[in-house]
Amino acid sequence: MKPNIGINDTHLAATSNLLNLLLADEFTLYAKTRNYHWNVTGPHFSDLHKFFEGQYEELDEIMDSVAERVRMLGHYAVGTLTDFAKMTRLTEGQDAGTDKKMIQNLLDDHETIIRELRNDVNEVNDKYKDAGTADFLTGIMESHEKMGWMLRAYIS
Ligand SMILES: [Fe+2]
Repeated sequence: MKPNIGINDTHLAATSNLLNLLLADEFTLYAKTRNYHWNVTGPHFSDLHKFFEGQYEELDEIMDSVAERVRMLGHYAVGTLTDFAKMTRLTEGQDAGTDKKMIQNLLDDHETIIRELRNDVNEVNDKYKDAGTADFLTGIMESHEKMGWMLRAYIS
């Protein structure tokens, strides 16, 4: 059944598409963070191993809420690795090498997502008249800003 929530079908579809693109980015960053959790080495191993775990757990919760928001808008969430790989605007990259490079790679991805979200918030609010999703995306942007701060603190 279609949601009758005062947003037209075209706008619901456009917003859902933006959310699915974000979901693909979140999934890619989740996989990358998990990869680094497993493979980090060096004198800060124990600390970074735990730190990356905290971050991928937060990304896991974000992914779930983004997918469920797509369903609330009456569309289907992307859910296959093939689609995630096709849709993501992030690059997976090769072996990161040093722990510092891992942190820089993750920070770059969080900042990319933050910039995308900043545009999406305005587009969803102004163009698609969906204040709920704009508010939802603002909250996710703030979570990434916090994760970005923590990553930045390791290398500055
Ligand atoms: Fe683990």
